[in-house]
Amino acid sequence: MPVVRRRVSVLCVVMALNVFVCVLMTVSWSFRRGKSGQQKIKIPSKRFWQQQVMSKSFWNKEQQRLDFIYNPLINSELSVIELPDWLNDTGPLDPCEPDHRVSMQIFNFSGLPQHFQDFLLHMRCRTYPMLINQPHICDDEPFLLLVVKSLIPHFDRRQAIRETWGRTGVFANRTVATVFLIGNSSPDDHLPDLLAMLGHEAELHKDVLQWDYRDTFFNLTLKEVLFLDWFSQSCPRAQFILKGDDDVFVNTLRIIDLLTGLSEKTAKDLFIGDVISNAGPHRDQKLKYFVPESVFVGQYPPYAGGGGYLYSGELALRLYNISQQVVLYPIDDVYTGMCLKKLGLVPEKHSGFKTFDIEEKHRSNPCVYRSLMLVHSRTPQEMLTIWPWIINPDPDCQ
Ligand SMILES: *[C@@H]1O[C@H](CO)[C@@H](O)[C@H](O)[C@H]1NC(C)=O
Ligand SMILES: *[C@@H]1O[C@H](CO)[C@@H](O)[C@H](O)[C@H]1NC(C)=O
Ligand SMILES: *[C@@H]1O[C@H](CO)[C@@H](O)[C@H](O)[C@H]1NC(C)=O
Ligand SMILES: *[C@@H]1O[C@H](CO)[C@@H](O)[C@H](O)[C@H]1NC(C)=O
Ligand SMILES: *[C@@H]1O[C@H](CO)[C@@H](O)[C@H](O)[C@H]1NC(C)=O
Repeated sequence: MPVVRRRVSVLCVVMALNVFVCVLMTVSWSFRRGKSGQQKIKIPSKRFWQQQVMSKSFWNKEQQRLDFIYNPLINSELSVIELPDWLNDTGPLDPCEPDHRVSMQIFNFSGLPQHFQDFLLHMRCRTYPMLINQPHICDDEPFLLLVVKSLIPHFDRRQAIRETWGRTGVFANRTVATVFLIGNSSPDDHLPDLLAMLGHEAELHKDVLQWDYRDTFFNLTLKEVLFLDWFSQSCPRAQFILKGDDDVFVNTLRIIDLLTGLSEKTAKDLFIGDVISNAGPHRDQKLKYFVPESVFVGQYPPYAGGGGYLYSGELALRLYNISQQVVLYPIDDVYTGMCLKKLGLVPEKHSGFKTFDIEEKHRSNPCVYRSLMLVHSRTPQEMLTIWPWIINPDPDCQ
């Protein structure tokens, strides 16, 4: 008797396995059909999607929401997006209203540093009015657009850049244009009012872009997406972009030289800089780059250090598009890495980008700068010292 019973149960198990394998094959087959575009796939039952695990970390969960909304497999045939309950969005309708639900969704919100709370409350807002624009700066369709992240009080840094590596016009037979990206100050920051001086500067040099948001470290990602938005509208035919901080020195000649030699295919997907791989969020609250687990878990994709990187204008347009599908992350260069990853691209490391400076003993050697692309950091005075070494090179340099 026991033998028969065991046989029956073995039979049951085998049958159950068969059914399971059959289901698996059907599902994977229909997915493949769907991907090849031959036949639209049936939307799996709601239950299937509810089994997805909701992340406990706020950023990751917000990203799951965007992934769901933009997933063409799920939403191609739906006019109204129906989110599973756990992704249902109860935030304010206007993304630029402070999103107070974050204080309930992030269990340790009230213990987070103030700038972190500010970031989370305004994370969804990507549109701020422009205060100063230069709609004609790209009328000549520049070969290279130099884009410098600056702050209102940094008048001397901007002037040093204009007099050195950011000089505009035709340079090495290529058109170069320069813009400075600037935000605004908030009354909470207790800063002196320099807006009239900035307005005067913008009038004089016609190279300032300013938006009305609070210019802080965690808003640099905003600076990035606002720039990409501006670029798509006002400068979409610039061939290359070098984006950097206002305390880097750029060897514009070397950059133009490198770009001139590129094949069309390499040029199209170009994204080079000082690439950092295998990094992740810092969990020490004392660090500038601290991000708690309650906000983000996971590794960072490879990204080029925000001090300066070089990419194609064509890629900037794609980055702008894809950025709509990536939740803003408080660290701007990591965010750009996330967007590149979504495009299926990997930034390339170039040894000429020295965002962590060069060895001290080489810093005053004129010959060393000839082979560099970019070095961080240099004062305005140092920029004016180094620039002649680039344009009037010592013939004795190798
Ligand atoms: C989301 O939740 C709100 C409030 O709980 C509800 O009114 C709304 O119908 C839900 N939307 C979807 C798409 O489930
Ligand atoms: C300057 O660049 C143009 C194309 O932008 C090219 O046709 C011309 O030959 C270049 N002149 C020199 C002297 O390299
Ligand atoms: C970013 O700018 C917005 C708009 O000015 C502001 O409300 C928010 O607090 C800023 N975020 C940070 C982290 O400073
Ligand atoms: C919660 O916040 C505190 C204070 O910022 C931080 O030290 C801790 O790591 C956070 N915990 C999680 C799980 O994110
Ligand atoms: C960006 O997206 C729009 C609409 O989704 C599309 O028409 C356009 O071709 C895209 N541009 C690029 C550069 O991918």
